[in-house]
Amino acid sequence: MLAKNNMKKSSTTFQDKRERCVKNIPLILSSLFIASILCLFFLISPKPLTLLPNQGPDIFDDDHPQHNKQENLSQTTKVSSSSSNSKPQKEENKCDLFKGHWVPSLEGESSYYTNSSCTTIPDSKNCFRHGRMDTDFLKWKWKPHECELPRFNPTSFLNIVGGKKMAFIGDSVARNHMESLLCLLSQEDTPKDMYKDPDDKYRQWYFPKHDFTLMMIWSRFLIVGEERIVNGTGSSIFDLHLDKVDEDWANIFPELDYAIISDGHWFFRVMYLHKGNKLIGCVYCNEQNVTNYNIDLPIRMAFRTTFMHINGSKNKKRGLLTVLRTFAPAHFENGVWNNGGYCNRTSPLSEAEADFGSFDWQLRSIQLEEFERAKREKGEKRLFEILDVTRAMLMRPDGHPGDHWGNKWMKGYNDCTHWCLPGPVDLWSEFLLALLIRSQLGILTS
Ligand SMILES: *[C@@H]1O[C@H](CO)[C@@H](O)[C@H](O)[C@H]1NC(C)=O
Ligand SMILES: *[C@@H]1O[C@H](CO)[C@@H](O)[C@H](O)[C@H]1NC(C)=O
Ligand SMILES: *[C@@H]1O[C@H](CO)[C@@H](O)[C@H](O)[C@H]1NC(C)=O
Ligand SMILES: *[C@@H]1O[C@H](CO)[C@@H](O)[C@H](O)[C@H]1NC(C)=O
Ligand SMILES: *[C@@H]1O[C@H](CO)[C@@H](O)[C@H](O)[C@H]1NC(C)=O
Ligand SMILES: *[C@@H]1O[C@H](CO)[C@@H](O)[C@H](O)[C@H]1NC(C)=O
Repeated sequence: MLAKNNMKKSSTTFQDKRERCVKNIPLILSSLFIASILCLFFLISPKPLTLLPNQGPDIFDDDHPQHNKQENLSQTTKVSSSSSNSKPQKEENKCDLFKGHWVPSLEGESSYYTNSSCTTIPDSKNCFRHGRMDTDFLKWKWKPHECELPRFNPTSFLNIVGGKKMAFIGDSVARNHMESLLCLLSQEDTPKDMYKDPDDKYRQWYFPKHDFTLMMIWSRFLIVGEERIVNGTGSSIFDLHLDKVDEDWANIFPELDYAIISDGHWFFRVMYLHKGNKLIGCVYCNEQNVTNYNIDLPIRMAFRTTFMHINGSKNKKRGLLTVLRTFAPAHFENGVWNNGGYCNRTSPLSEAEADFGSFDWQLRSIQLEEFERAKREKGEKRLFEILDVTRAMLMRPDGHPGDHWGNKWMKGYNDCTHWCLPGPVDLWSEFLLALLIRSQLGILTS
């Protein structure tokens, strides 16, 4: 076991300033004292990430991002939300859709589809098929504090995206969003299955009535991440190249009109960090001669490198819209995925009950900072937009497949990371449609 001490040794700052410490590695090495004073000076977050690596055998295949071993999230202090644009906006169209709470939905508005009206629900998210009995978790809708979020309208969506290509880029939670959108749209136009690879990492659907292409492009880290092979098997230890985008998505990127980018669940593991082909450090590691970093560094750099690539790309499509979908929290209680953690709640939390001091929220902060940075430095107007699901989903511990019914359909583990279909994850497409409509009206924040 890696001792907790190792984590404490690692640098703990969150903010951009932290990067100065990284750039100054020679300085750190030659003058550790001064460097650490500098780092301390920039230590802004009062509650640094204290994440522990996952030590268990990698029983989760690519379908199941490993989750961290955060020991007791509730011990972290509650911090007030610090959204970057908190000034009150009177105009309905400019209201912050992502700040709100869950309220009971009206009769007949509980869900958009069922496991019979949507035939593409993957087995792993088909909760009712696997015996989930409670349906109350479907009877809630998101209410932004300052306005109403319209119901999802597949016709409106397809009319906007007609003739275009949209891809979800990221891990299996990105795929979960794609699968939800597929169900929502299939109520209006029956999608054709165009491509599926054996691992379901790349997927392509086509909506013939609207000439709309919907894709899933798998990328664990968004940047290059190679698993170390030890004795012929994957070691679950990765070499991460902080300055190189994953070609798997970058190659397809020039075809896209919409890119929905998300990531985060794969970073909670031992990783060696490279920049310019040089080893610059590692996370969750125990080497004396390698700088230890907290996982905020690789996560930050994954998004920074991704956004820089998109901004700098010469052959992206005109009118391309890149959307950052913020981190979606998992909800393991009394453990994690491999030691009996479960998620069997049947109703949402209130805003007061949700834990905005958790690492999920901090991870979102990193993503948001990199997003704001990309927006600030962007070359073209309306290139980057945000789909901020973290707040809403922190309040939905009831939305996961889990194992409410004790039949252990997940090889004996609870899935408290992905989301049931139908379920609260369908909200993400309500947000997405609202963004697309605003984008069309040209009233996105800029
Ligand atoms: C987490 O911490 C809280 C507050 O200190 C405590 O009440 C709770 O029992 C702890 N939970 C676990 C799983 O250790
Ligand atoms: C849909 O869910 C019901 C339980 O609500 C289950 O009996 C049925 O097998 C499921 N159908 C499909 C096609 O998955
Ligand atoms: C690799 O295999 C060798 C020989 O079977 C064994 O001695 C060694 O411990 C293994 N290494 C790891 C990291 O499992
Ligand atoms: C760190 O030390 C180990 C063992 O002493 C060695 O194998 C490794 O190459 C060293 N790494 C660096 C970056 O110097
Ligand atoms: C959830 O599971 C735990 C552990 O199995 C159990 O103690 C608890 O009563 C369950 N809660 C609900 C609401 O079913
Ligand atoms: C984004 O692109 C613009 C125009 O090509 C360039 O001026 C700017 O420096 C780029 N920003 C980043 C962060 O790459």
